Amino acid sequence: MERSTRSARTETPAIEETGIASMGLHLPPLAMRVEDLATLRGEDPQKYLVGLECNEFSLCPPEFSIVDLAAEAARRALSRWDGELSDIGMIVVGTESAVDMSRPLSAFVAERLGLRGHVRSYEVKHACYGGTLALRQALEWRMSGAARGKAALVVAADVALYAPGDPGEPTQGAGAVAFVVDRPEVASIETISYPYSDPAFDFYRPVGDAYPTVDGKLSLECYRRAAVECFRALCAGEDPEKILQHFEALCFHVPFPKMVRKTVLRLGEAFGWGAERVNELFKDKVEPTMLWNKLSGNAYTASLWISVARALQGRRPGERIAAFSYGSGFGSELLSLVAGPLASEGAWAEDIEKDLAARGRIDAEAYQRLRGLPGLAPAG
Ligand code: HMG
Repeated sequence: MERSTRSARTETPAIEETGIASMGLHLPPLAMRVEDLATLRGEDPQKYLVGLECNEFSLCPPEFSIVDLAAEAARRALSRWDGELSDIGMIVVGTESAVDMSRPLSAFVAERLGLRGHVRSYEVKHACYGGTLALRQALEWRMSGAARGKAALVVAADVALYAPGDPGEPTQGAGAVAFVVDRPEVASIETISYPYSDPAFDFYRPVGDAYPTVDGKLSLECYRRAAVECFRALCAGEDPEKILQHFEALCFHVPFPKMVRKTVLRLGEAFGWGAERVNELFKDKVEPTMLWNKLSGNAYTASLWISVARALQGRRPGERIAAFSYGSGFGSELLSLVAGPLASEGAWAEDIEKDLAARGRIDAEAYQRLRGLPGLAPAG
C-alpha cells in the first residue's frame, strides 16, 4: 500500500479500491454448554442441541464489558492493517448493547485506542442490523470522497442476554468483529445491495429494561419473510439457481443455527426447489459458515460478521460470498462480498482460536451466580 500518498489523496476512491482492509474478532472469556443450561431449566438437552442446533454460548464475567469486547476486536483489526491511527477519519460502532443513552459506544472505544482529532465518531442502532449499517456507511463515506483518503474503523459488538428462563436463553451469546475500511485487501463489498424493511415489534427492548421482549414466533416469520424478499430482489426474476451459483458461500445472521436452516428451507419453497436441492445447498454453502457461531451464540450485530469471517477465511481472490443481515424491528439487507488477496491467509482465524483456547467453561452453579440468581440446592 502507498501509505506516503494517503494524506495527499482527495479524489473519490474507485469502487475496487474500497473495502475491508483488515479484520479482528473477539469472544469474551467465558462460555457455557447448552446441555448444562437445559439441565438447569428442566428442559430436554435435545431441544437446544437438535431443536435449536445450539452448542455453546459466550458469556462475560462481571468485570468484562462491551467496551472491552469492542476495543479488543478493534485493536486486533488495527494490528493487521499497515496504516497509522492518524489515518483513521471515522470510527463507527454498531451495537444494541450501548452503555449510555447519549455518549456513543464509539467514544468509549476511541478513548481506549487513543483515537481523537479530526475523526467522525458515532454509534449505529438497528438491533442486529446495526453493524451492517455501520459498515455500509463507512464504505459509502469513502466512496463519496468525503473521507479524503482516510480509512474508517467499524466495530459490530454485542452482549446478548435474555431474562433467566426466557425461551431465548439458550440462544444468547456475545462477540465482536472489527474492520478497517480502506483498500479491499480482505474483501470488497459490492455497491448494489438488497435491503428490505417492515416495521414490526418482533424483538425490542424499551428504555430501562434489562432484557428484550420477544415475540418468538413473529420474529421467526419476520426473519424468513425478509430473507425471501432480499433474495428475490437479488435474483430479479432470473433463475435463482443460476444467480446463487456465483456465490461460494451464503452467510446469514445467526440468532441460532436452526433459524438459518429454516430460512434456507423457506427460500427453497419460494424458489420451487426440492428437499434434496435445499439440503445440498445448505450443506455446501451455508452450514460451514456457522462453525464459529455455534461456539459464540447470538452476538447480535456481530453474528452475521462472525459467519462472514469464517466464510472468507481461505477464499481465493475473486470468489464471492453473499451476506444476509437481519435486525429486529425489522430491517434487513443482502450484500455481496468479493474476496481480496488477504482472504486466503485468513489471519483473523487466530483471534477465534486464541479466544477459544483461553476461555473457561462455567457450570450451572457458576452461571446462576453470574446471573445473580440463587445457588442450586445440594444434590440428594
Ligand atoms: P421455544 O418456543 O421455547 O422453542 O423457543 P420451540 O418450542 O419452538 O422449540 C424449538 C425447536 O426445538 C422446535 O423445532 C421443536 O420441535 C424442537 P422446529 O419445529 O422449530 O424445527 N424441540 C425438540 N427437538 C428435539 N428434542 C426435543 C425437542 N423439544 C422441542 N426434546 C424461540 C424458540 C426461537 C422462540 C426462542 O429461542 C426465542 O425466543 N429466541 C429469541 C428470538 C430469536 O432468536 N428469533 C430469531 C429471529 S429474530 C432475529 O434473528 C433477531 C435477533 O437476533 C435480535 C436482533 O435483531 O437484535 C433475535
